[in-house]
Amino acid sequence: MTTELLPSPAPVEAPQPRPRIFSGIQPSGIVHLGNDLGAIRNYVMLQWEYEAIYCIVDYHALTSTHDPAVMRQRTREMAASLLALGLDPERCTLFVQSHRPEHAELMWLLTTVTPVSWLERTPTYKEKKQNQPDDINHGLLTYPVLQAADIAIYKAGLVPVGKDQAAHLEISREIVRAFNNRYGVTFPEAEAVYTEAPVVLGTDGVRKMSKSVGNTIEILGSPDEICKQVMSMVTDTKRILRTDPGRPEVCNVCQMHRFFGDDWEEIQDGERTARTGCVDTKKLLAARIIEHYAPARERYAELMAHPAEIDGILEAGADRLKPLAQATMDEVRTKMGLR
Ligand code: AMP
Ligand code: TRP
Repeated sequence: MTTELLPSPAPVEAPQPRPRIFSGIQPSGIVHLGNDLGAIRNYVMLQWEYEAIYCIVDYHALTSTHDPAVMRQRTREMAASLLALGLDPERCTLFVQSHRPEHAELMWLLTTVTPVSWLERTPTYKEKKQNQPDDINHGLLTYPVLQAADIAIYKAGLVPVGKDQAAHLEISREIVRAFNNRYGVTFPEAEAVYTEAPVVLGTDGVRKMSKSVGNTIEILGSPDEICKQVMSMVTDTKRILRTDPGRPEVCNVCQMHRFFGDDWEEIQDGERTARTGCVDTKKLLAARIIEHYAPARERYAELMAHPAEIDGILEAGADRLKPLAQATMDEVRTKMGLR
């Protein structure tokens, strides 16, 4: 009798844990083109390669949003926006900051290693102090410590954000460095990850696109609204006549075309040679943005019609993170002599 040898099974490799990333986004109600090009595109891409944790930071938003109904509504809207734009709850963890109270506890502990002078030097804090001197709550000062805690609690090493968060991340690193020096190495110093569009200018072509400035393109808004916002964009201010050659390198509309279509060179050439006018280029951009985000717009409407589904995803996300957050807190409490 012959014994047939079966081919030996291929060695099964233990699944490698994926490196962990974290990012937070304020429940600001609308998602604008700057959010997507500057950060959310990376959230979506990185969820495939990393263990990705994404947080809707309602504690942070309390520094400026004081209406409970508005807070609840915007939190849902932000969750629906992120899911509509491609976050997959099977691939990443999406949750609301206040659903994991460990964030607030770790923040307090980290405040005790943070010199006030670092916080007073934060550019966003200095800006607020100048613009609204009579409305400076303590949360605005402590904001970066909470942000440091958000990242540290999951020991994330990479943080996808837009360039406007560079200073906050620098302070986060300094805070965890101060903690590690005093109590022993506990947290990694997390690095920012930027997209190809780390700073997206608003429709004014001068300032960063931002809801508070009112220069946004609301990608999940109605096609009419998008059209109006794109048509209001400031182009090359030195191009006066339709026949004047344009300077695509300083034209915000032209620069945005880079992300919508594979004919960017041609579009730039059209402006440079005055073959196309600014209005043509804007109309084309509006049409492309509307088309690009059409499926997301549909998914957003569907999700918003089923709020229980959104809430379920957020609750499951917070539950999934509980053991991780609690393990870090146990370690930190022990290191600090609290148990
Ligand atoms: P926020 O709405 O301020 O919580 O921002 C959410 C994310 O979008 C953060 O990672 C920001 O850095 C990013 N972001 C916001 N505005 C812009 C912009 N105009 N250009 C690039 N990234 C941005
Ligand atoms: N400050 C960030 C913003 O305004 C939001 C944020 C809070 C965040 N915690 C974070 C971003 C942790 C990255 C990591 O956009």
